[in-house]
Amino acid sequence: MDQIIVRGGHTLNGEIQISGAKNAGLPLMAACLLTSEPLTLTNLPDLADIASMAGVLESFGVDVYRNGGDGPHSTCRMHVPTITETTAPYDLVRKMRASVLVLGPLLARAGHARVSLPGGCAIGTRPVDLHLKAMAALGAEITLEEGYIEARTPKGGLVGGHIVFPFVTVGGTENALMAATLATGETVISNAAREPEITDLANCLIAMGANIDGVGTGTLKVQGVASLHGAQYAVVPDRIETGSYAVAAAITGGTLKLKGTRLELIESLADILKECGVDIIEGDDGDSLTVSRVNGRIRGVDIMTEPYPGFPTDMQAQLMALMATANGASMITESIFENRFMHVPELCRMGANINVHGSSAIVRGVDKLSPAQVMATDLRASVSLVLAALAAEGESVISRVYHLDRGYECLPEKLSACGAQIERVSGR
Ligand code: UD1
Repeated sequence: MDQIIVRGGHTLNGEIQISGAKNAGLPLMAACLLTSEPLTLTNLPDLADIASMAGVLESFGVDVYRNGGDGPHSTCRMHVPTITETTAPYDLVRKMRASVLVLGPLLARAGHARVSLPGGCAIGTRPVDLHLKAMAALGAEITLEEGYIEARTPKGGLVGGHIVFPFVTVGGTENALMAATLATGETVISNAAREPEITDLANCLIAMGANIDGVGTGTLKVQGVASLHGAQYAVVPDRIETGSYAVAAAITGGTLKLKGTRLELIESLADILKECGVDIIEGDDGDSLTVSRVNGRIRGVDIMTEPYPGFPTDMQAQLMALMATANGASMITESIFENRFMHVPELCRMGANINVHGSSAIVRGVDKLSPAQVMATDLRASVSLVLAALAAEGESVISRVYHLDRGYECLPEKLSACGAQIERVSGR
């Protein structure tokens, strides 16, 4: 199995091109099932999760054509004149939890979906009960059989309804939104997630002919239409990749220009970073950010993860690596997932001083992290270990890097172009 070797202690300086967002790309790809015409996505990152979704879609009869554009495989054309299969088998779904996003579109267009209950990152139990309740609110009949969700629409298809989410769910909102576009009549989604990836999906659906009001708010109103048409749509920049490289600048004390991304996508994170002593300046072009920490040590600040526009859970592990090097203590509270501190023991192996109490971690900053052999446990945890290793003088070895492949396009290349000593090697 591949490993990443980092010889840390070098300041990073340079430019990094931010890729399209994985978490926007996945639901946008699933949206191709809603129309018999081609959907073309540009700025789609080349990642293992995107390839997994392409595999799932191909199994339903989607013709997926990916070609090079600005970046590797950055354009993807998907076309499914007729859905030939409505079962998403365990073997495909287990690789990636987001496969459950095919449920809404399959039901809406084909009237039937059989989707294996998902696997995915081991960051808590992560049920899909709210996805199922949303489909039921649109008239679907749902049963659970032998590890599969079996869902069927009544005769005539889905019917608009009122979906009230008891708490914010990103994937649940996406499934509900996609299904509602083709339901008969009006659907209201209350307590909808407001993440930029939801806005991206809504805008793409509108470009495909959907009728959606309230985009960017917690209440989405959808007037169902008889059919959607094809479109071309550019995926929003990845705010988590943006944030991860912003932390790379902060933790190594350098200056990175992050291109192809926007401040509005990372405002809560930017506020925290500024409080820590990091400078963030928006480019005049509105399409880049310059992040630097040239003077002084990072200051410890308290952080709590929350749904957007709050601090993202997907940046919690990276901020913890940064806080591990801060002057002073910080308390990091995880309010979205119950088991998202798996990076803590690994960061402690690198000399961090972190104590977990329930859903909070007390991080007491240390003068220096030390290099170590560590193991990635999930996608964001693995990048937090890379960040810690960049700051630790000497050689760190990170194993199980396949987690990184799920969410970070060309990570070693992007970092080494800015002066990091980082390489990927086949297991040794
Ligand atoms: C998405 C993101 C993930 C991010 C998360 C929260 C994608 C592909 N993944 O995941 O990177 O960390 O949002 O911002 O976009 N829940 C239920 N029942 C459900 C659905 C969710 O109890 O039916 C719970 C989850 O266990 C979790 C919370 O709701 O505790 C939020 O999960 P959700 O927003 O649905 O996350 P995902 O869409 O899976």
